Amino acid sequence: MTQTVSRDTPMLEVRNLVMNYGTKDGMVSAVEDVSFTLARGDSLGLVGESGCGKTSIALSLIRLLPDNAVVKQGEVILDGENMLELSPEEMRMRRWDDISMVFQGAMNSWNPVYRVGDQIREAIDIHWDEKPTVREANAKIAELFELVGIDPSMMERYPHEFSGGMKQRAVIAMALSCDPKIIIADEPTTALDVIVQEQVLEELRQIQHDLGMSIIYISHDIAVIAEITNHIGVMYAGKLVEYGPTVDVFARPRHPYSWLLLSSTPSVTGPRMKLAPLEGEPPNLLDPPSGCRFHPRCPFATDRCVAEEPPMEDIVEGHRLACWNHDQVPTTAKETE
Ligand SMILES: Nc1ncnc2c1ncn2[C@@H]1O[C@H](COP(=O)(O)OP(=O)(O)O)[C@@H](O)[C@H]1O
Ligand code: SF4
Ligand SMILES: [Mg+2]
Repeated sequence: MTQTVSRDTPMLEVRNLVMNYGTKDGMVSAVEDVSFTLARGDSLGLVGESGCGKTSIALSLIRLLPDNAVVKQGEVILDGENMLELSPEEMRMRRWDDISMVFQGAMNSWNPVYRVGDQIREAIDIHWDEKPTVREANAKIAELFELVGIDPSMMERYPHEFSGGMKQRAVIAMALSCDPKIIIADEPTTALDVIVQEQVLEELRQIQHDLGMSIIYISHDIAVIAEITNHIGVMYAGKLVEYGPTVDVFARPRHPYSWLLLSSTPSVTGPRMKLAPLEGEPPNLLDPPSGCRFHPRCPFATDRCVAEEPPMEDIVEGHRLACWNHDQVPTTAKETE
């Protein structure tokens, strides 16, 4: 089926996505009614503590789920087409071509016995419409290596000859090898030391700018998201709790969880904010808290929060959040004194 997709159509629209994992102890509610959009050429950051469902969203989008995972509900509309309605074979064709992913920890999964270039060429051979000659594939890999800041001669080398930063750059090159419309980068710099992390982020920012790509960056580190995204989605316990332009959310986080995440990250907020502690841990999603899932940790919680789940609502245009008491959240951390 051919369809005309207007330039104004978002690159990606996720509507009411629900995903669970079946376990012997019951259902893990990992993604609960999540909706967001990603415009063409935009970068969206998904942030939240470990265990809040960020990777689960990514795996649902690209439809590479473990056997015990079930997408219960929702739509994932990529460039006008619902990915969740495609057959496994159709999805296999879209994956890497249309939507690709840098997996969490992927830099450690290079096969040690093959040259890095050969491993990327294998991906190119499988996914390009016409299998390229070795010369064509190598030319593409050289181009990608230059793009991500690796000397093209490194394609002849083995993984152990790459530094950590180079391994991660090569993973990014592989994710770009089929010119996808959208790329999901799951904790792409988490395993790297701070200086290398900065370099890889800069490279990613440059690539996104040069190629005009749509990107979803996933990180537990809100400082990383601040640096490289236009929009931000804050996840808590399987739910999206705040979504808006990054500058707006950083200037004035309105959801208590975002506010606490931000104010406990001094590198973002600078010395002007008094630190407010984010105590405790995200809940076990086998048995999430009633009402607002954040209520056991929230300094603004009331009885209503325990009983009733707050809906996602537009607070100002394009800035949505789910909280009954968002007007209680201080505009600056000074007010916490
Ligand atoms: N294969 C799985 N089986 C059962 N539960 C899982 C599985 N993978 C993740 N989970 C659970 O799903 C929730 C969300 O995990 P995840 O998406 O990995 O979060 P994040 O990426 O934000 O750290 C967590 O409670 C986690 O324990
Ligand atoms: S709804 Fe209540 S518990 Fe949830 S974040 Fe808002 S104030 Fe806190
Ligand atoms: Mg994860």
